[in-house]
Amino acid sequence: MNNLGTVTLETERLILRRIKASDAEEAFNNWTSDPLVSRYVTWDTHENVDVTKELFTKWEEDYNKEHVYRWVVYVKELDTIIGTIDVVHQSVSQKTCEIGYCYGSKFWNKGYATEALKKVMEFLFNEVGFYLIEVRHLATNPASGRVMEKAGLIYETTLKNRFIDKVTHERTDLIIYSKIKDTN
Ligand SMILES: CC(C)(COP(=O)(O)OP(=O)(O)OC[C@H]1O[C@@H](n2cnc3c(N)ncnc32)[C@H](O)[C@@H]1OP(=O)(O)O)[C@@H](O)C(=O)NCCC(=O)NCCS
Repeated sequence: MNNLGTVTLETERLILRRIKASDAEEAFNNWTSDPLVSRYVTWDTHENVDVTKELFTKWEEDYNKEHVYRWVVYVKELDTIIGTIDVVHQSVSQKTCEIGYCYGSKFWNKGYATEALKKVMEFLFNEVGFYLIEVRHLATNPASGRVMEKAGLIYETTLKNRFIDKVTHERTDLIIYSKIKDTN
């Protein structure tokens, strides 16, 4: 494994770069205060910008550690940051990792999540050396499953009743997709 950490990545429409504490206000306006986003992730909607700032300050310090892969996604044509994509779990010995991502609802359905996921996967496979990448989504969040399919991940399994949906308060399945590095 070649643990490069969070280096800047670029696609046609996006720049993926390290998060800074000074991103907090824009992030709060664009996604951390958005209840449509927090419904599908482990964190709750931030009540004020200080919550985002405190988190981003910690994340900025985290970059001192090896193996931290966490990008903020900047859209060139909008000149703004729209969300994050990161490695949420990893096993260096097994060369496997899990990716998570979230984007503000005003930026959905423009292909940004797919474009960022494809780039991060390409980097983690080809530059860092992971063998397998996994991504998980709630059954109540099919758009995320669609992003996984478009990025070339394959449906693997469903964990029944694994989470309680924050809005319906009903149990929902957790669906796992994965991809093994292409060897040809
Ligand atoms: C899920 C999420 C990442 C998608 O981001 P995005 O930038 O809109 O994704 P893309 O535009 O690349 O692709 C979205 C796809 O989902 C499809 N889609 C949207 N709503 C859908 C729905 N209710 N059911 C099925 N597909 C849906 C879109 O049509 C599009 O597919 P297409 O290109 O074939 O038309 C974004 O909605 C998000 O951040 N949600 C909140 C946080 C979250 O869910 N994080 C992921 C946790 S697993």
